[in-house]
Amino acid sequence: MGEAFHRTRIHNETVMNSFLDIVNKRFSCRAYKSDHVPREMIEKIIEATRLAPSACNKQPWRLAVVTDPAMRGELASDGILPGIGMDWIKDAPVILVLGIRKSFVTHQVVPTISGVDYPLLDLGIAGEHAVLQAAELGLGTCWIGWIRQEPIRKIVDWPKDIIPQAMITLGWPAEQPVQKTTRLPASETVKWCE
Ligand SMILES: Cc1cc2nc3c(=O)[nH]c(=O)nc-3n(C[C@H](O)[C@H](O)[C@H](O)COP(=O)(O)O)c2cc1C
Repeated sequence: MGEAFHRTRIHNETVMNSFLDIVNKRFSCRAYKSDHVPREMIEKIIEATRLAPSACNKQPWRLAVVTDPAMRGELASDGILPGIGMDWIKDAPVILVLGIRKSFVTHQVVPTISGVDYPLLDLGIAGEHAVLQAAELGLGTCWIGWIRQEPIRKIVDWPKDIIPQAMITLGWPAEQPVQKTTRLPASETVKWCE
């Protein structure tokens, strides 16, 4: 690391550490207590998604906040693809369903020029804002991408132009990771072009 980095770190130590602490604290939580998640907390998490950046500020994300036990049960049974045991999903007191609202320009025209899937990028950013805000509040989350889109759309009663892309379970963790999942070293994933 260069000297400049160390200087910045010393001056901003508190700020830098507090954000990385939250990033480090987050893990995929797959066991939840039945305890109620206060509505103010859910609203704070929604606010974090609302403030996310998006290509051309299109804000294509749509969220369904599912707390109804019967609907959570349906999402856990009919909304998940087979093959991975994800029965624990129904125990999360809140399930956020994340969808993309199809818009002609961002979905059809723009990707044919650049090849980039902007709405999906936008949704990923907004979703991770939610996850990190939840971590700051001490709540557990898990991204769920092994989903059946059309059954989920019907369960949350979205119109046909809103396509579910993922779910995020939310609640008070009933587990802490025994061992954190590992990551590749930055030397394998980052190319410095100096
Ligand atoms: C887009 C996305 C989809 C995922 N889908 C699932 C899923 O369907 N089921 C599941 O149990 N975990 C799912 N995960 C969680 C990952 O398995 C997890 O993030 C990864 O193994 C790293 O572990 P960690 O989150 O505890 O650090 C998903 C994560 C992401 C970002």
